[in-house]
Amino acid sequence: MEVLICDTYDDLSKAAFKVMKKVIDEKPAAVLGLATGSSPVGLYQEMVKDHKENGTSYKDVKTYNLDEYVGLDRNDPQSYWTFMNENLFSGIDIDPANTHVPYGDTAEDAKAYDDEVKGVDIQLLGIGNNGHIGFNEPGTPFDARTHIVELTESTREANKRFFDNDITKVPTHAISQGIGTVMDADSILLIANGAGKADAVKAMIEGEVTEECPASILQKHPKVTVILDKEAASKLT
Ligand code: F6R
Repeated sequence: MEVLICDTYDDLSKAAFKVMKKVIDEKPAAVLGLATGSSPVGLYQEMVKDHKENGTSYKDVKTYNLDEYVGLDRNDPQSYWTFMNENLFSGIDIDPANTHVPYGDTAEDAKAYDDEVKGVDIQLLGIGNNGHIGFNEPGTPFDARTHIVELTESTREANKRFFDNDITKVPTHAISQGIGTVMDADSILLIANGAGKADAVKAMIEGEVTEECPASILQKHPKVTVILDKEAASKLT
């Protein structure tokens, strides 16, 4: 696991962009595993800026997102589908047919998505305050494939900021790639910023590998880059 600590969120986003850009330069038809949430917004801005200024093309790139809320229409302002279109896809030349965000609420929907996610060159991850990756909450088996999950109170609490600060508006379930699906990726790039992530980051990097901290499994992946800001790294020894 390679760990890089940056001074600011802006530096973190630029460093993450360098990692992503190297993959695309080496393989114009790369398969990217993507994440939503606050952490990757700066990286996506860098990708859009670079596409506009330098012409980096995504026309042969395919993307597979990690997760989506259950019960929100695709076009809901808070759906991850909308998030991806607003923050990245509309700003680059990717073919919409090559972008994939899971959708549905049954085991069959989850299996169908899992069967599609193949050959991911780089999987981008954020980390939850409780150590979740994707929406794999503490206690999720490490070998789980894409599945329907019940979100924990702590995750719904953390995400209520996108739902008028009202936890009752935050969906209770999501469809998420499993940890087994995530671990199939060739390489993994995890980014985390802010003091709220410091405990989860420490458990991920320095703690024991346990299903109580889903991200700790990354210690077993052969090619992981973790990029942190100073606050998220503040509890590392
Ligand atoms: C998002 C996802 C989640 C987030 C995590 C951190 O697709 O799978 O695991 O990466 O909850 O969220 P932020 O970045 O909003 O702190």
